[in-house]
Amino acid sequence: MANLLDVVDIEVAYGPIKAVKRISFYVRAGELVTIIGANGAGKTSTLNAIMGLEPLAHGSIRYKGADLGKIPVEKRAVLGMGVSPEGRRIFGDLTVRENLIAGGITLSSSLCLDRIESVVGRFPILAERIQQTAGTLSGGEQQMLAIARALMIAPEFLILDEPSLGLAPKIVSQVFELIHQLNQEGMTVLLVEQNVRKSLAIADRAYVMELGNIVREGSAEDMSSDQKIHESYLGAA
Ligand SMILES: Nc1ncnc2c1ncn2[C@@H]1O[C@H](COP(=O)(O)OP(=O)(O)OP(=O)(O)O)[C@@H](O)[C@H]1O
Ligand SMILES: [Mg+2]
Repeated sequence: MANLLDVVDIEVAYGPIKAVKRISFYVRAGELVTIIGANGAGKTSTLNAIMGLEPLAHGSIRYKGADLGKIPVEKRAVLGMGVSPEGRRIFGDLTVRENLIAGGITLSSSLCLDRIESVVGRFPILAERIQQTAGTLSGGEQQMLAIARALMIAPEFLILDEPSLGLAPKIVSQVFELIHQLNQEGMTVLLVEQNVRKSLAIADRAYVMELGNIVREGSAEDMSSDQKIHESYLGAA
């Protein structure tokens, strides 16, 4: 089967700093793929390049065979790509409901309303707080909202940048359960996470980034039992 996403030899540079150094990887339809790596490894830069938020200094990215370089950023939602960005980026002055509407901006108004219903069905806490100003939500609730907003377009391909960052352990488990469930329902997921243990537990395959390079790739199962991965990312346990 053809890959859903093909990242080929991409470089992302900030002036003289090469944050991503000609890396290549792929995501097949239906897979949950995780990118792990230390702070500054280039994970967010890679995701931003896929979303068209950073220009490519080299290489190309294909989604369902189409060159994303030729497709404007705002059209990527229409292609079926949804993103929950690093740091949540919700609209703090808007209500939960208005944030969700913003996520469904490309939809007809009746479909948008239907989707709000189905999305908050997954997040009972958001249903309770639907009229609350998003900036007053707790960190965990804001993270839920960021994911819920990405789900408004019912994406075929969901990109998540550190969805569990700063959350209490119980909420972290809930977020991972949700991601796992979305993938089980058929959604393709590209997940960047600091929580390597939980990511590998739900992923099919993993890539390890270091200083802008992909230094390891393999099945999540192999990675979980790999001594070097344990020493570098999973601590002594
Ligand atoms: N806008 C920018 N301008 C200059 N340098 C940047 C910019 N964004 C990122 N960088 C640099 O690029 C490198 C990769 O950053 P990136 O945010 O992609 O890493 P990351 O793997 O997502 O890290 P983290 O786990 O901390 O989120 C870092 O050295 C960072 O300082
Ligand atoms: Mg990052």
